[in-house]
Amino acid sequence: MKREIIVAKSAGFCFGVKRAVGIAEEYAEKGIPAVTLGEIIHNPTVVDGLKERGIYPVEEISEVPEGCTLILRSHGVPLSVVEELEQKCIPYADATCPFVARIHRIVAERTAAGDTVIITGNPDHAEVKGIIGHAKGDVRVVRNFKELEKLSINEKNLCAKCITIVSQTTFLRAEWEKCEKFAKKVYTNLLIFDTICNDACTKQSEADALSRRCDGMVVVGGKKSSNTARLWETCAANCPTVLIEYPSELKPNDWKNCEVIGVTAGASTPYGIIKEVLQTMSENRVENSFEEMLEQSFREEESKYVRNGDKVQATVMVVKDTEIVVSVGSKHTGFVSSEELSEDPSVKPADLVKVGDEITLKVLHVNDADGTMTLSKKKVDAEKNFQAIEEAAGTDKILEGTVVEVVRGGVIVVTDGVRVFVPASQATASRNEALEGLLKQNVKFRVLEVNAQRKRAIGSIRSVLAEERKARQAAFWENVEVGQVFKGRVKSLTSYGAFVDLGGVDGMVHVSELSWLRVAKPADVVSVGDVLEVFVKDVDKEAKKISLGYKKEEDNPWEILKRDYPVDTVAKAKIVSLTAFGAFANLIPGIDGLIHISQISHERVAKPEDVLSVGQEVDVKITDIDFDKHRVSFSMKALIEAPAKEEAEEEAPVEE
Ligand code: F3S
Repeated sequence: MKREIIVAKSAGFCFGVKRAVGIAEEYAEKGIPAVTLGEIIHNPTVVDGLKERGIYPVEEISEVPEGCTLILRSHGVPLSVVEELEQKCIPYADATCPFVARIHRIVAERTAAGDTVIITGNPDHAEVKGIIGHAKGDVRVVRNFKELEKLSINEKNLCAKCITIVSQTTFLRAEWEKCEKFAKKVYTNLLIFDTICNDACTKQSEADALSRRCDGMVVVGGKKSSNTARLWETCAANCPTVLIEYPSELKPNDWKNCEVIGVTAGASTPYGIIKEVLQTMSENRVENSFEEMLEQSFREEESKYVRNGDKVQATVMVVKDTEIVVSVGSKHTGFVSSEELSEDPSVKPADLVKVGDEITLKVLHVNDADGTMTLSKKKVDAEKNFQAIEEAAGTDKILEGTVVEVVRGGVIVVTDGVRVFVPASQATASRNEALEGLLKQNVKFRVLEVNAQRKRAIGSIRSVLAEERKARQAAFWENVEVGQVFKGRVKSLTSYGAFVDLGGVDGMVHVSELSWLRVAKPADVVSVGDVLEVFVKDVDKEAKKISLGYKKEEDNPWEILKRDYPVDTVAKAKIVSLTAFGAFANLIPGIDGLIHISQISHERVAKPEDVLSVGQEVDVKITDIDFDKHRVSFSMKALIEAPAKEEAEEEAPVEE
C-alpha cells in the first residue's frame, strides 16, 4: 500500500524548552559545573544526554554541590526557591520560560492588589506549583470548567470579590474558552489574562487539523509532559493515535491499514528523536523518503528565522479586543496590536480577522529573549496599495476613503490602508467649513501628488466636490420647472430677499414672498441655515436665474377669512390703532378691520380714544368684507342692545 506521512510543522521543541536546553548546553560546553532543579525537560533522552556531559538533575537545593550553579528549568519555580538560593548564596541560572515568568508577575501583582487569583490548570504540575509560589494572597486552582463552576457554587462570596484568572501555559484552549465565558457571567469584578502559550496552542490546532486528515497519528513526547498529553488527547479524538517516548515503542501494526499517517511531537521532544521515529517508520517500509522529509523540516525551521522588516505568512491564533496573537511558524509568538492592524482606529480586530485566517505581516521587532515578535498588517497593506495611489496621482481617477484624523493644516484620509494627506484648502467645498465635520466620513478624492520614496501622498476632496456640484447644476437647469418644490438651506440674506441653496444652485425668495404678513426685512422671518420648502415661481434658464416662493396659499389670511369668518360672524378683535374716524382692530394675523366711529356705540362718541385704547380686546360683528379692496368692517354697536325708543321719547323735551 502506498502510504504518506505528514509531519506537523510545529512538532518538537518550543521556544522556552529550546532556550532552557540551550542554557544547560552552554554550561556543559564551557565546562562550568551545573545541576538542574528537577529534570530540565520531560524528555529522558535530553536529560540522559546532559547527564553524560556532567549536567544532572537534583531534587532539593540541599543537594546542590558546592561551587555548582543551579539551573532553574523552563516551568519556573516558587519565589521561595529563588529567595532560598539568594540567602544561601548559591549561584543560579534562571531558564524559566518568559511566558511562564509573565504569569508569575501577573499573579504576584494581582494578589498583592487584593484580588483572588484563579489558575486554570493542573495543581500537581510543576509550572502551576511555581505560579502558586508567586502569589502574595488568595489563589485557587481549577482543573477544568466543571471545577470552576463548582468553585462559584461552593464559595458564593467570591462573586463579590475582585477576581483575576490566568491559565497554565499548556491548558486546553477549548476548555479555557468555556471557563472565560462562564467567569464573565459570574464574576463582576473580573480581570482575565489569556496566558495559554501560543506554541502549545499552535501545536494543538495543527494536531487537530492533521489528525482529521490522517488515518492514524503518532505523537512523540515524554510520558510526563503535559503538552504531549494534550496533543495525544486532541489527536485521539479524531483518529487512532499512539503515544511513544522512544522510536523502539513503534509497532508496524499501529499503522497497518493507514494510507496517511500524521506525526507530531511535544514541546520537549528534540529533533533527533523525531528523526529516529521517522527512520524507524522508514525501516518498516512505509513508502516515502523520511530523511528527505526531515531535511525539509529542518530547512523550514532554518527558514523560520526572521529579522525586523521581513514579511511573513502568519496564522491567526487568538483574536482579542486590542490585539491578535499569530503563529508565524517560528518559535516566537507574534503579536499584532489593533493600531498595527488597521489605520482606522474605530475598527476592532474581530472586524478584520478571525481565528485560522492566513495573513501576511511585516516584522517590526523580534525579541529573542522573550520569544515574542511584534508585527504589522497595516504596513503590508499600505505597501501593497501605495502602488494604486501612485498610479492615480495627477490623473482624473477618483478614489474613496475614510477621514480618520484632523491634523494641523488638513485631514488624513485612509484608503486601503494608505494614509493620504488632504490640505485644509482641498478638504471642503468652501474654505470656511469646519474640518471636524469630515471626521469618520467616507469621502471621494483625487491624488494630486506622491512622494514614492517617502510613501507620502497629497489628495484633494474639493476637486471631486466641485465636479459633482457642476454635474448637479447641469442636471438641475435641464430639469427645473415652474411649480417644482424643493427643500433648500438659506445661504444668505439681503434687505430684499433670502438666497436659498437648492443643492448646487441658488434661488431667491423675495421678501414679499416670505410671508403673508407685512415684513420689514427677511431676517424677521428666516435665518441663515434654516431649511425651507420652496417652490419655483419663475425660471430663466438662459440667464440661470430662479425666483422662489415660500408663503403658501393655504396660509393666506384672506382665504382663512373667507373660510372661517363670513359676514355677521361675532369674534374677538384687538384694537391696533385709533384714528379720527374710528379704530382698527386685528381679527387674525394679517386681517385688520375698521370699527367706524359711528359703529362703536349707540351713544354719540366724540373721539374713539374716549372709549377705546390700543391693545384692548373687544367683541365685534363682521358687517362687511370687500375681498377686492381687502377691506373689512366691524361693528361693536351691533352687539349692544339699543336703548328703548319710548323712554327716549319720554325723556325728550316736549315742544308745545
Ligand atoms: Fe514556554 Fe510555551 Fe514552551 S510556555 S516552555 S514556550 S510551551
